[in-house]
Amino acid sequence: METVLVIGATGNIGTSTVTAALRSKRQVLAVVRNQKSGEKLVKNVGTSEGITFVEADVVSDSGMRGVVEQVRAGKLPAFQHVFTCVGADYIPVALKDITTAQLRDNMSRAFEANFFAYRETISYLLEQGRPATYTICTGSQGDLAIFPLPAMTQGPLFSMATAASRENAETNVRFNEIYLGMRVEVDEAAKKHGVTSASEFSVVYESILSRSEIRGSRVRVMNNGDLKDLKYESKF
Ligand SMILES: NC(=O)c1ccc[n+]([C@@H]2O[C@H](COP(=O)([O-])OP(=O)(O)OC[C@H]3O[C@@H](n4cnc5c(N)ncnc54)[C@H](OP(=O)(O)O)[C@@H]3O)[C@@H](O)[C@H]2O)c1
Repeated sequence: METVLVIGATGNIGTSTVTAALRSKRQVLAVVRNQKSGEKLVKNVGTSEGITFVEADVVSDSGMRGVVEQVRAGKLPAFQHVFTCVGADYIPVALKDITTAQLRDNMSRAFEANFFAYRETISYLLEQGRPATYTICTGSQGDLAIFPLPAMTQGPLFSMATAASRENAETNVRFNEIYLGMRVEVDEAAKKHGVTSASEFSVVYESILSRSEIRGSRVRVMNNGDLKDLKYESKF
C-alpha cells in the first residue's frame, strides 16, 4: 500500500489531505509538532486507522531531515507521495504595522517550512525511481494581498512551485501546486463559518493522485465548481 507523507497534516488543508489519502486506500505518515496536534487531526478526520504519526520541528532546517532518516532506517513507513501545507497567521495587519518578529515568524512557518519539506524529501522520492508525486498548497491571497502578512508568504511559494515543476519535468516525480482561491476549513469549523469543508476539498487531491497527466501544473480551485472539474495549466 502506498503512503502519503503530509507536512502540516493537522491544519485545515492537511486534514483534507489525510482524508483524501485514506479514501484513496493509501496510508498516511503525518508530521505533527506534538501529541495534542495529532489528537486534533484524529478528531477532525474521524479515525487514526492508517495514520502513522511522527513528531518533528518542521520549522527547523533539520526537522524533516530527521524524518527522512528514520524512513531510510526502516523505522517509519516508506512514502511515495508528499503533500506540504504548513501555514501561519491568516490575519489582516497593514504593512506598516507588521512587526519584525511577526514577519520572520510568518516567513519561517509559511514559507521556509514548506521549502525545507521539499529540500529534505525530494531526493528520497527521486531515488525510488517509481511514479511519485509532490503537491503543495498555495493561496490566491498571494496575488490579492488583502491580508498582506499571509499574502507575502505565498509569493516565494509560487516561485518555488515553478522551479520544482521545471526541475521535475522529466523525473519520476509529478510536482503540482494547488492554487486555492476560497476558504477551506476542517468540517466542524466550515459548517459554522459557511465555507468549504476539508472533506469537500479532499476530492481535489484524490484527483491529482489518480490523474498521471497532471504534472508541473497549477491546479486552480476558485470555487466549489472547481472541485470535481479540475482546472490546471503548466507552471512554466
Ligand atoms: N485553508 C485555506 O482556505 C487556504 C486557502 C488558501 C491557501 N491555503 C494554503 O494552505 C496553507 C495551510 O493553510 P491551513 O488553513 O491548513 O492552515 P492551518 O489550519 O493554520 O494549519 C497550518 C499547519 O501548519 C502547522 N504549523 C504552523 N506553525 C507551526 C510550527 N511552528 N511548528 C509546527 N507546525 C506548525 C500547524 O500545526 P498545528 O496544528 O500544530 O498548529 C498546521 O498543521 C496556507 O498557509 C496557504 O499556503 C489555505
